[in-house]
Amino acid sequence: MPYRLTVIGTGYLGITHASCMADLGFDVLGLDIDADKVRRLNSGELPIHEPGLEPVLRRGLDSGRLRFTTSYEEAAAFGDVHFVCVGTPQKRGEYAADVSYMDSAIESLAPHLDRECLVVGKSTVPVGTAERLADLLARLAPAGVEVELAWNPEFLREGYAVEDTLKPDRIVIGVRSERAEKMLREVYQPLGDIPMVVTDFATSELVKTAANAFLATKISFINAMAEVCEAAHADVTQLSKALSYDDRIGGRFLNAGLGFGGGCLPKDIRAFMARAGELGADQALTFLREVDAINMRRRARMVDLARELAGGSFHGCTVGVLGAAFKPNSDDIRDSPALDVAVTIGAQGGQVTVYDPIALGNARKAHPELHYGESALEAVRGAHVVLLLTEWPEFVDLDPEELGKVVAARRIVDGRNALNTETWRSAGWHYRA
Ligand code: UGA
Repeated sequence: MPYRLTVIGTGYLGITHASCMADLGFDVLGLDIDADKVRRLNSGELPIHEPGLEPVLRRGLDSGRLRFTTSYEEAAAFGDVHFVCVGTPQKRGEYAADVSYMDSAIESLAPHLDRECLVVGKSTVPVGTAERLADLLARLAPAGVEVELAWNPEFLREGYAVEDTLKPDRIVIGVRSERAEKMLREVYQPLGDIPMVVTDFATSELVKTAANAFLATKISFINAMAEVCEAAHADVTQLSKALSYDDRIGGRFLNAGLGFGGGCLPKDIRAFMARAGELGADQALTFLREVDAINMRRRARMVDLARELAGGSFHGCTVGVLGAAFKPNSDDIRDSPALDVAVTIGAQGGQVTVYDPIALGNARKAHPELHYGESALEAVRGAHVVLLLTEWPEFVDLDPEELGKVVAARRIVDGRNALNTETWRSAGWHYRA
């Protein structure tokens, strides 16, 4: 008899995990405290944009193996394994992560537990959190109920969430008992032969943070090279390509441009620095301060380039912005470099019109002060400067001739090094990247 699973928290991670586990044949109960979200999920409506996820969600609902609730009591009665997937955002005005949703989830679930089960943290947390939560769980669970905690960080990327969940590069679990290890091995057995690292709580928490710190460092490395290339009149795209042939370096996450954003990399490197400081190991991570600074400098550089193309000032200048999501194939605008640039230019007097294929609704809600177009052509109509800030395929495929007919001036900054320079230049565009 396979385990019955609950998934607490229905963000990008939780919805994907719940839907995929139901697809693998488990009975799954998703839980969220947002009743409206639960209602929408139960009717097969995805509250986020994630390619390929909706059919998996619907299959789960239709098969009767997946449903969603707001009741912790029901979740406690249902689950053998409870996955906690709640958000751990950056604290306001601080570097540290806010893990209070994690605490709330355990506090809400634990008192209702009345049978043997495993509680598994999946969210990205500062090292040491699992140990603290294990104590909290032990304190709040009714006496005599056999319950323990395990840690199982998640490495999925938005835009590829289903693929990454069903075919992960590796599975990492932090456990304190053979029983917990055995249960998690059984849960992931349907995924087939995936490399598995079984370790302690602290190491499992750190693997996730270290992975994101490495990825962020790789991006900032190539962006630092871009700064030097620009000063030396060299070509960072060629440089990156040449580096990528070295297997030890590899070409992924080596695209220079506007840098990283989203709900993970920026806040994770900051939370990592904050936690290292608490542990007295802050010196080990001072380089991450530089990684962060290089990344933020990209946004400032983009604004400078746009201003230069606008003739030195944004006043009286119309700027067409292509992209609002923090990356293509996502509707996520959390810490989006594209929106950050758009907002800054607006604040400096530019008349900014933004278009994004999917993230327009979210952008509108968060930044009603900007103007929005319903298509790329509409966003750049009458523009003195066009900025490509998120490399959606439909932007990469834009016809420079067609675009050239509606703009006020053929000037473009390619913030993602995504366009074919020659094609745009030969169509008479002043092209910068
Ligand atoms: C990231 C990690 O890649 C996942 O492994 C991790 O599980 C996830 O965070 C998380 O912690 O939950 P995600 O935030 O979805 O995933 O996005 P990425 O694909 O990593 O992209 C992050 C940012 O880096 C984007 O803004 C993207 O445009 C930028 N980027 C990426 C570059 O600027 N250059 C590159 O070469 C690659």
